[in-house]
Amino acid sequence: MKLLDIYSKFSDDIHYIENKLQESVRSEDAQLNDAALHLLKAGGKRLRPVFVLLAGRFGKYDVELLSHVAVSLELIHMATLVHDDVIDDAAMRRGQLTVKEKWDERIAMYTGDYILAKALTVVTKLDRPDIHRILSHAVVQMVIGEMEQLRLFYNVEQSVRDYLLRIRRKTALLIAVSCQLGALAADAPKIVTQRLYSFGYNVGMAFQIQDDLLDLTGTAEQLGKPPGSDIRQGNVTLPVLYAIQDERISDTVRRALESLRGASADDSLVDEALTLIRGSAGIREAERLAAKYIDKALAALEDVPDIPEKEDLAVLARFITNRTY
Ligand code: IPE
Ligand code: IPE
Ligand code: MG
Ligand code: MG
Repeated sequence: MKLLDIYSKFSDDIHYIENKLQESVRSEDAQLNDAALHLLKAGGKRLRPVFVLLAGRFGKYDVELLSHVAVSLELIHMATLVHDDVIDDAAMRRGQLTVKEKWDERIAMYTGDYILAKALTVVTKLDRPDIHRILSHAVVQMVIGEMEQLRLFYNVEQSVRDYLLRIRRKTALLIAVSCQLGALAADAPKIVTQRLYSFGYNVGMAFQIQDDLLDLTGTAEQLGKPPGSDIRQGNVTLPVLYAIQDERISDTVRRALESLRGASADDSLVDEALTLIRGSAGIREAERLAAKYIDKALAALEDVPDIPEKEDLAVLARFITNRTY
């Protein structure tokens, strides 16, 4: 998959944003500085900034202006990751120790707060209340999505609709908003901005479904964290919801989740459940739904202007469902 082509085409601007990201988290407090930089330097795909840049091409492209949106979005994303790793008790992220693991949970809470505050500092360099409003709304929705997820931990009675509603909030909206705000900051035509939002939303849905699939099917090396983490945390994802429609699988998965919820997890039962899910039709069905969202994303692009970045967006969308990291 040639994701790299897009990155090399925009390498100057991505580099520019990378520098701005580093500058933006610099702090006189050595611990905050180190913890924020640790996550930043661990890498990541920088998908949200790339969507901002591509969307910005549909209007008056000004990298300085767009960088405020791109940096702010990546910082919001990073802040939620730092907190997410506390909630999920995750030790690895981007192939490195998480902030909560390398330091501790209290430092991770402050680091997340700090990065989020920096995101606000950056975006308010733009005198655009419309952009501020959209961004805050997205963050509020993300938190609601994460809360919904928490409430549904270990719950095998939840519906596919429950799952889709929460990934819409926790992931898809921020990607939708990345596309929307790139276009808005560049004053692209309204209809194009709307289409790009819809593109981003559908890509975002596919993105989280693929993330949940990879958690089951990927290797530790590909993922930068151990596979099977979702179920161990109690997070019942789409492939699992599909898999347990098969009664032979649902009994084992239920018992595995029960044991995980209790004081001592039955590791061999959890492994058995994971093996059953991995071999189930649930994987195929989740892949099919992700592909459907990508089709919708591509359809949203149909009547946007035919500039080269339209194809770049399409390539990125297709990459989402083929990605292994
Ligand atoms: C991880 O997002 C969290 C989800 C929303 C699935 P990314 O996969 O974009 O994380 P990085 O930035 O590349 O590490
Ligand atoms: C990431 O969610 C955090 C948000 C989307 C807010 P997950 O817990 O599903 O993602 P990973 O697997 O830790 O990256
Ligand atoms: Mg997590
Ligand atoms: Mg999580």
